[in-house]
Amino acid sequence: MVASISNRGGSAAAIQHHYDVSNEFYQLWLDSTLTYSSGLWDSPTLDDDLEAAQHRKIDWHLQASGATTGKRLLDIGCGWGALMQRHIQSNPQNQATGLTLSHNQYLHIRTLNSPQIQVCEESWIVHQPTAPYDAIVSIGAFEHFAQPEAASDEKISVYREFFSRCQQWLKPKGKLSLQTIAYGSLNAEDKNVFTQTEIFPDSELPRPGEIFIASDGLFEVKTYRNDRLHYGKTCDLWLKNLRRQKPLVIEQFGEELYLKYEQYLKLAVAGFYFGQILLLRFEMQSLAK
Ligand SMILES: C[S@@+](CC[C@H](N)C(=O)[O-])C[C@H]1O[C@@H](n2cnc3c(N)ncnc32)[C@H](O)[C@@H]1O
Repeated sequence: MVASISNRGGSAAAIQHHYDVSNEFYQLWLDSTLTYSSGLWDSPTLDDDLEAAQHRKIDWHLQASGATTGKRLLDIGCGWGALMQRHIQSNPQNQATGLTLSHNQYLHIRTLNSPQIQVCEESWIVHQPTAPYDAIVSIGAFEHFAQPEAASDEKISVYREFFSRCQQWLKPKGKLSLQTIAYGSLNAEDKNVFTQTEIFPDSELPRPGEIFIASDGLFEVKTYRNDRLHYGKTCDLWLKNLRRQKPLVIEQFGEELYLKYEQYLKLAVAGFYFGQILLLRFEMQSLAK
């Protein structure tokens, strides 16, 4: 089944509902790199700080995607650009292209004024590269690709289209590094209405099996990890930051927004710790010859 243009890739309006609250709002409770996805810890006690865990996560993806040995990197869902900046800083020859649907993120990256970074305010659905990429990374965007009411075969169809595009855009044997939240013990039927409508409208999580089916024959899964406790820890640290900044957040953005994000982060911490939702990281290699 081929998904229609209206039900794939997430709508720009839905993305902007979440990410365009204001850059200053996110600066108050994310780490200084403005990374908005799970960190990565390498000790079982998860005991170093958030910024170190975010750098480690970025480095894991640069390594897994092969960006550390290639030059041209595509970051699908680039956020405020932390991963692209790390890539270009490691070598003056390196180049990065980032895709985002958030206007604020787009403007933020433009102000970096880096000739090595190109940012496009567009969905992967319409992206047309000028040359093949050496590596592709996508962190925290996959959750937005399918519609909430989509049946499993419709979701798989959208995801397969995504993997197929990534394969076409990569050099032969090129690699894709993917990070996404996925359903664990939670079912689509009893998913959290609050998070879905208030925080992330128009989004839907994949099930792990849907990702394997959708990428089958296009990519070999070389590494698969479920780091749900890492995302639980990350959300816990974001929640602590948010609470520490409570007076400022309420003064600048109002109590309603503060309470909304406090509730969302509390639910996310519990969801990851209890295994209702998972945090998946994939290292995948293109099977194209
Ligand atoms: C949770 S943020 C993660 C940002 C960044 N990767 C990070 O780890 O900090 C999700 C990102 O995905 C982007 N996004 C969502 N759907 C997209 C789509 N269809 N095409 C391109 N980007 C998309 C959003 O604009 C946002 O930049």
